[in-house]
Amino acid sequence: MPPRKTAARLSQPHLLGIEPLSVDDIELVLATARKYQTRVAAEIRPVPRLDLLKGKNLVLAFFEPSTRTRVSFEIAAQRLGMDVVNLALEASSAQKGESLLDTIKTLVAMRPDALVVRHRGSGVPRFLARHTNVPILNAGDGTHEHPTQALLDALTILDHKPSLAGLRVAIIGDIGHSRVARSNIHLLTKFGAHVVLCGPPPMLPKTFECFSPLVERTYRMEEAIAGADVIMMLRVQLERQRGHLFASDNEYFRFYGLRLEHLQAARPDAIVMHPGPINRGRELSSEVADFPRSVILNQVENGIAVRMAVLDLLLASGAPKPSAGAS
Ligand code: CP
Repeated sequence: MPPRKTAARLSQPHLLGIEPLSVDDIELVLATARKYQTRVAAEIRPVPRLDLLKGKNLVLAFFEPSTRTRVSFEIAAQRLGMDVVNLALEASSAQKGESLLDTIKTLVAMRPDALVVRHRGSGVPRFLARHTNVPILNAGDGTHEHPTQALLDALTILDHKPSLAGLRVAIIGDIGHSRVARSNIHLLTKFGAHVVLCGPPPMLPKTFECFSPLVERTYRMEEAIAGADVIMMLRVQLERQRGHLFASDNEYFRFYGLRLEHLQAARPDAIVMHPGPINRGRELSSEVADFPRSVILNQVENGIAVRMAVLDLLLASGAPKPSAGAS
């Protein structure tokens, strides 16, 4: 890969969400990720590592379960030459009553170059960024934001569509509890896409319509899917709900599960996305999950390129430096 010609840098020292990023920031991440896409896709074994961030340490602190985000951050960091340490939550002193801030200060005292944090508390990454002087990367905070998911989703959409502007994107499912929906709404509307939110009334709060005039809501799946360029299905976040809204998976699937027949109302080249983990027979049928215009595994693959890009941009020389108390 040729060296960068321009001193490309983000306006932010942390990646806390999509909301604080400018259009230029997002375009820079996507352009950088595109350079890494071919390396990720190449079937060369062993995978050649870059030494761009050689000697730097990344700590992954996941206080909630994860497969895709944690593993792809680890692979991304390794491909850039970084050393990676995973905090094993079940074996950590957080189990002995240590506060989150004390755990993070302890990790920071070991001088990592960046911390990737997932936590069930909305706003935790921003709180930590105020108290540390290492870059914090938000890997999902409660119902707030999941910025690398929205960035990899945008990269995947742009693999299939020439531009985000003017696209009709239906986001269907448990919108209210979804940090993926929130980050995608911010990103897609910054680029002029129309977002149609759809879900059962208790999962579809009105607040999201205030984000942008480009956002609308409907309780009817057929209405959301009509003319859609992109259909983004979401997991029902049972772990964030107080009680079960539906008697069974079957009942939810009957009203809000995506089936092949729904796709006839979408545009003929519409793609189906899902951030994962998917639940076949609840959010979508197996036939939809596996059909040719499902890009769910492309999203996973693009996660590595996007996470390489954000690590590159936040940690390479010339990146803005965080300072405790500044965020
Ligand atoms: N999409 C997503 O965040 O998946 P994981 O929970 O497996 O990281």
